[in-house]
Amino acid sequence: MSTTLRAENITVQYGQFAALDHVSLEFKPHTTLGLVGESGSGKSTLARVIAGLIIPNEGQVNLGSQVLGNRRTREQHKKIQMVFQNPDASLNPRHSVKQILAEALLFHKIVERSQVEERCKELLARVRIDETALDRYPHEFSGGQRQRIAIARAIAVEPSFLIADEPTSALDVSVQASILDLLNTLKSELDLTMLFISHDLAVINAICDTVAVMRKGKLVEVSPRDTFFTRPESSYGYELLSAVPTMPQFSNDRS
Ligand SMILES: Nc1ncnc2c1ncn2[C@@H]1O[C@H](COP(=O)(O)OP(=O)(O)OP(=O)(O)O)[C@@H](O)[C@H]1O
Ligand SMILES: [Mg+2]
Repeated sequence: MSTTLRAENITVQYGQFAALDHVSLEFKPHTTLGLVGESGSGKSTLARVIAGLIIPNEGQVNLGSQVLGNRRTREQHKKIQMVFQNPDASLNPRHSVKQILAEALLFHKIVERSQVEERCKELLARVRIDETALDRYPHEFSGGQRQRIAIARAIAVEPSFLIADEPTSALDVSVQASILDLLNTLKSELDLTMLFISHDLAVINAICDTVAVMRKGKLVEVSPRDTFFTRPESSYGYELLSAVPTMPQFSNDRS
């Protein structure tokens, strides 16, 4: 089943300051949308509004014909899951891996209690972590492995939409590629629609179908990947690309 997710006219105010200013964005099912823009432009704020973690001052998030209201149901929460930049902050250090995954599985009634252990093992296999990890605690793992566990928890509840907000920027460079590869594989295997936030345009180019560009709380461009990387529509998109020394496809000729 493919349901289109839409953010409509989203505004988030912090006092006088608009972190998001009437942002509308549509996610085509089973595609990856890359969200780029300078620090502070509102990318994470938009991600959190879509995930239901922040209530916007204006606008709404729609899933198909359903409006996801300010108090989302458990079923609505389940559909949109998020992976954060820093797995340390998102995993409870006092819970074993089994407890972390079981809590998500049981809260969202994904399996019966008797099947939890089996499902936890399947989830770990999906994120390429050995099942002996089940009785261990987050601090016993590397940063990359912790991010895999956070990803396992996100997919445990069988979402249709996954948001990854700079999922590799807190990790060692040597493991970044394998985490991106994992997200990309899961996206295909599980038919996910993905919102992927990154400062790294090479990564955006490698895994996204569509590129959206934010600046100062406004969306200034939404283009197919190839269009963005060859002939960006916005002057700000052009600026972002010009700042990357090794963008081979990018033509400097704007005529
Ligand atoms: N709780 C808050 N209270 C006040 N201002 C906030 C709050 N959260 C975010 N902001 C401000 O809103 C703006 C957008 O923040 P946001 O985190 O969405 O940016 P971002 O594009 O994700 O940046 P980065 O690339 O650095 O992660 C920033 O100016 C930030 O300081
Ligand atoms: Mg951010």
